[in-house]
Amino acid sequence: MMKKITFILSCLFVLSGKAQNPLFIPDTIVGPNYSLTMHKDSVQFFPGKKSYTYAYNLNKYLGPTLIFKKGSVVNMTVNNQIGDTTTVHWHGIHLPSKWDGGPHTPILPGASWNPQFTVMDNAATYWYHPHMHMKTAIQAIKGAAGLIIVRDNIEAALALPRKYGIDDIPLVVQCQQYDSLNQAMPRGMQDSTLLVNGTKNPFLNAPAQVVRMRILNASGERAFNFGFTGNKQFYQIASDGGLLNTPNLITRIRLAPGERAEILVNLTGMSSQTLNLMCYGTELPIGVQGGPTMPMPPGSPPMNSPLNGINYDIMKINVVAPTANPITTIPSSLTTNTVYQANQASAFRKIRFTADSAMVMDGPFYFNDSTFDMMRIDYHIPLNSTEVWTLVNKTMVAHPFHIHDVQFQILDRNGLQPGPEDLGRKDVVFVLPDDSVSFITKFEDFADDQIPFMFHCHILMHEDDGMMGQFIVSTNPLGLIENIRIQNVSVFPNPVKTLLSIESQNDSFTKVEVIDNLGRLLWTQKIIESKRVNVDISNFDDGIYTLCIYTNKGVICKKIIKN
Ligand code: C2O
Ligand code: CU
Ligand code: CU
Repeated sequence: MMKKITFILSCLFVLSGKAQNPLFIPDTIVGPNYSLTMHKDSVQFFPGKKSYTYAYNLNKYLGPTLIFKKGSVVNMTVNNQIGDTTTVHWHGIHLPSKWDGGPHTPILPGASWNPQFTVMDNAATYWYHPHMHMKTAIQAIKGAAGLIIVRDNIEAALALPRKYGIDDIPLVVQCQQYDSLNQAMPRGMQDSTLLVNGTKNPFLNAPAQVVRMRILNASGERAFNFGFTGNKQFYQIASDGGLLNTPNLITRIRLAPGERAEILVNLTGMSSQTLNLMCYGTELPIGVQGGPTMPMPPGSPPMNSPLNGINYDIMKINVVAPTANPITTIPSSLTTNTVYQANQASAFRKIRFTADSAMVMDGPFYFNDSTFDMMRIDYHIPLNSTEVWTLVNKTMVAHPFHIHDVQFQILDRNGLQPGPEDLGRKDVVFVLPDDSVSFITKFEDFADDQIPFMFHCHILMHEDDGMMGQFIVSTNPLGLIENIRIQNVSVFPNPVKTLLSIESQNDSFTKVEVIDNLGRLLWTQKIIESKRVNVDISNFDDGIYTLCIYTNKGVICKKIIKN
């Protein structure tokens, strides 16, 4: 009887929007030894109903926050106790591909995995989550995710809030759809259950001083346009991969899935007041999950989340008495980030985001019309190559593009200077419909001829559907070409003096490229649907080249010798 009354009461609270729960703050693990055990659990997000979850260690949902110190060695043990294959990827962290936790390094049920690496990243907020191809969405939205905080000497020298859970608040924000049996749905475009650190309807008691918030959008799909009630101004101090040069005074910060920001909110003198962290969805553009819902062609899957195109609460903040030794001022400068200029680049790559037709809203989506293939290497990148990648979105929906291994710097968005959401070191960039965004980065430190790094859309269902590619960073870009599977394509003669013939039995060619041993594109030709092509290479110097042949199934590359 008592149970029933409590249940009815809590239902009433939910309905009247008053059931506020204290924000859960995940524990921290400080190195050098870290152990993560991923297990199955359950949580009652809906009173009296079980939602099955995945979590790490003692948590029932999400995992502990890992504290890394730049320059230190991380000794990691990951135990897989979920009864299914998984991986753990350290999102944003620069490390060897064999420890990156992509789809090529599965952890079988019951097995353990022991990455060991030195932290090379700048102080910022990173995260970890599974990365099994076609299972990333379901595993992550069931709760397999956690934060990583990297500390370094530059950040430590600044007067910034860093009392974890007191004036330095981790915020893992997710919006999910649960089905009629209360289970998380990987294709949940009617997402309406908001969780912050796994807490529904959270409140935070924040001291009346400068408070730092480390915000991660860990949603499968939804973008948030964060701000505070009353248009309270705040400062962004860090983006995905490090501090900004100076704090940036703003009233909104838009974060797509995978993106992080650290902000400072000055609550000095506000004891006993309240404010809300909000999402201002009315200001999001059309084509963004979270912005106004588009009129849909008949037969499309439902995507009309009640949270689309409206402004809604994410977390209530009660301002309480300040702590001892509070931070009350905002530093005027933070760090000096290295900048690359476009003229330093030795390679330029273009990735078009495509779909089967211009009307597709829920996928599948592709990069350059190809779906992900574990066996295909999309790019061979020489170690230490500085490159400009241009992302062109030819679809109706916005996609957060993420690349492993590196942090990048955005050069331009549609030819214009990058805006506030594009500042600093980034590993995710949100590319809106019709946008063309260029970034520059350098592929340093880690080469591996066998295990590739990934790049993909961080809308998890798009990623699982194949909006992903992979690249090898190599000290020997020619040697590894021979590892690539070449199917029923013949190239002859080789060595060659003048005319090279390329023939395919099955697939039509779309493009042929000749690349020199520094990875530079020397010659390219578009081909309209042909299974045979001749390339005159009589003008090339004698030497070794890479020939890349694009077909509608992907690209294959082969070493050729000109003599
Ligand atoms: Cu957050 Cu490839 O991932
Ligand atoms: Cu990543
Ligand atoms: Cu996408």
